[in-house]
Parts: sequence; C-alpha cells; structure tokens
Amino acid sequence: MSIEIPAGLTELLQGYTVEVLRQRPPDLVEFAIQYFTRIRETRSQDGAGAGGVKPLGKEVRISEGEPMQTESNGDDAEQDEDEEDDDSDFEREYPASSYNRVRLCAEAFNPDEEEEDTEPRVVHPKTDEQRCRLQEACLDILLFKSLDPEQMSQVLDAMFEHRVQPQEHVIDQGDDGDNFYVIERGVYDILVQKGEQNVCVGQYNNRGSFGELALMYNTPRAATITATTEGALWGLDRVTFRRLVLKNNAKKRKTYETFVESVPLLKSLELQERMKIVDVIGVKNYQDGERIITQGDKADCFYIVESGEVRIMMKSKTKADQQDNAEVEIARCSHGQYFGELALVTNKPRAASAYAVGGVKCLIMDIQAFERLLGSCKEIMKRNISHYEEQLVALFGSSMDLRD
Ligand code: CMP
Ligand code: CMP
Repeated sequence: MSIEIPAGLTELLQGYTVEVLRQRPPDLVEFAIQYFTRIRETRSQDGAGAGGVKPLGKEVRISEGEPMQTESNGDDAEQDEDEEDDDSDFEREYPASSYNRVRLCAEAFNPDEEEEDTEPRVVHPKTDEQRCRLQEACLDILLFKSLDPEQMSQVLDAMFEHRVQPQEHVIDQGDDGDNFYVIERGVYDILVQKGEQNVCVGQYNNRGSFGELALMYNTPRAATITATTEGALWGLDRVTFRRLVLKNNAKKRKTYETFVESVPLLKSLELQERMKIVDVIGVKNYQDGERIITQGDKADCFYIVESGEVRIMMKSKTKADQQDNAEVEIARCSHGQYFGELALVTNKPRAASAYAVGGVKCLIMDIQAFERLLGSCKEIMKRNISHYEEQLVALFGSSMDLRD
C-alpha cells in the first residue's frame, strides 16, 4: 500500500525536531504548541496579500564547511554557545515586516565589494522527488548559469517549495524584497502600476523566474506578480541570493563590461543600463551543429554572440524542398551580433532556426528583461526588419511579411 505524504509535512516536522534538539525543552507538547503557534503567526503576518511567501517551518542553518546537524552530537556545551546566534539568525530570516524594512534600508548595494563569506548557510531539507523537480525547474534559470557546482548546490539546498493558489499575490509592487522565485509550474501575470491603474505588462507561462530586482538593487518590488492558475514555485531567501548570485554578478560585470560596450546595438545605452543587462544575462555554450533556436517555436529569449559563429537557416520555399524539410542558410552572426530579437519584437513565432558553427558562446536574456531593458533599442531592431525582408526576397524571389 502506498501512502502519500502531504507537501510540506516533512519540512514542518524536521523544523520542529531541529528546534527541539537545539533548545531541549522539558515539555515537548507545550513546546510544540508554542513552536507551531509562532509559525502560524508569522504566516498570518506575512501571508496572502502582504507580499511574499515564507517557507513553512524552521530551516536548518549550517556554517560554511560544516556537515548539516539534524540530531544531537552530544556536545551540549558547544551547542548551547551556538544557540544565541542561531536564534538571532532565525529572527533575521523570518522577521515581522517592520523589522525587515529597517534591515533592508540599512543594507548597501555594492556588487564590487568582496564580502567575506561568513554567513551561515540555509538548508531546507528535501525529498529526492522534490530535489528532482527543483533541479529540473532550475535548469534554464539564466541567473544561475554562471554559478559553479558548489554554489549551485548551496542554492538548491536553500530553496523551499511553495504551492500557489489561483489569484494569489506572490509579490506586491512597493513591498520589500524577501525572496527570489523560480517557477516549476503555473501561469503568473506581471502587473505594473501606471497612474491609477495596474497594467498587465507580461506573463510567465510555466517557466522562468522573478523577484530578482528588489534583491539585487535594494529597491521596492517593481511589479506585482499574481498567479492566474494553481502552481508551484521554489523560493530562495534574500540572504542566500545576495551571497551567491550577487557575488557572481560582480565577477560577471568585470568580465563583460568591455564586451557589452563593444556591442553596436547597446552603444546608445548608459553605462548603468549596460551593467543592468550584464546582471541579468546568462551565458551558454553550444557545440558544433547544435540547434539554438527552432523556426516556428514560441520565443522567450534574445541572444548576443560572444564568440564563434551562428548560422541562421530558414525552411526553403520551393515545393520540392518543403517536402523534405530542407533549410536554406540566410545569414550568419558572429562576435557582438545579435539574433532572436525578431519574434520578441513582432510577437510572432521564430522566423528561422539558428545553429552553432563550431563552438559558440552566447549571452542570453529572457523576454521580460528584454522588454524592460532593451525597450529603447527596439526601434533599431524594427528598422532591421526591412533589411531581413530584402534578404529573403533576394534568396527566395518572393516577399515575406515579417512584421507584427
Ligand atoms: P522585483 O522587483 O524584485 O519583484 C517584481 C518582479 O517582477 C521583478 O523583480 C522582476 O523579476 C519581475 N518583472 C518582470 N517584468 C517586469 C517589468 N516590466 N518591470 C518590473 N518588474 C518586472
Ligand atoms: P527570430 O525570428 O526571433 O528567430 C530567428 C532569427 O533569425 C530572427 O529572430 C533574426 O534575429 C534572425 N534572422 C537573421 N536574418 C533573418 C532574416 N532574413 N529573416 C528573418 N530572421 C532573420
């Protein structure tokens, strides 16, 4: 007989067990009442509509390099000494909203600062099944692409699952940033206040991530994110996000500052705007012949070639070729050139496919960042459409309307 374990039960009980081992209360039942009451209070303070989702139960925090402790090691004196620190960590991580606000304002953003990595690690224990789902959801998260395996494993350890109900506000514009979210499934509207109205500026459809801006730049939430369906998210607390992702962004800025300056499309942007692009891009390598985008697919990314060459291919328009699905080469992109913008600008499916010629390295930006950061470059891209159309006439002898 198989028994289904309700979502969250394991974390809830593990959190309680860890607290018992830490505090060794004389009366376990009395302690359980206090412990779960405190969780309920934290949830109702920070719950629906208040902006942000908190993990259920206490997470296990461990210091860098130490094994995770989930049971007593018999070293009571040492454990008692640590107790005070651990409790303050708990409060720092799950504070009442007012406390959170004070802390956020005091925290300065300096991506170039080489902070010493002394923060204790956050670990939310997971079942194998949860870890599989989490890894799958994180595969294409651009912000995680430049993390090394050890950093990525710390991120996975720290993430917690949150099931979402339709109409739930995961984030409210103007709130302080508590977590970054990766989407496992569900559809989420992006709403931005314009004057008196909340305008829907985009949507996440069963993939992607959100909530990085407030954590990166210490600003209030820039948009409201509401679930339109039932869904599942994975949250990452701001402390871990800043410790791992921001530290990496500082390195990314150093690496890509000169390259991004040399990209003709981005020349008209201010330095700060270019750096914001670097902050959100992912870097991906492709092998010779690998398909990067597929003609006819729905588009959700934009690409800049860092190194190597990309071949743009379109299905042939001659009848004979159409039958055997032959493709014709229509263009090549190399260092500093971009592709995959057309479908984002016209809201149409991909007009062509793109393949790596030899080893290729691309910078990738998701559609939401593209809309937010490259809005002012769209005119340049739109002007290029007539150039594409001329290319196609020269190749296929007939015109093709690529516009929206
Ligand atoms: P953050 O400001 O932390 O919280 C709201 C999130 O919505 C924001 O981070 C981005 O991840 C996401 N978002 C997506 N599109 C936009 C947009 N056009 N403007 C602002 N935020 C957006
Ligand atoms: P997109 O339609 O998103 O995906 C295929 C990409 O190929 C397209 O964006 C352009 O960036 C690129 N491309 C290069 N030359 C052409 C062309 N002549 N017609 C259409 N797309 C082209």
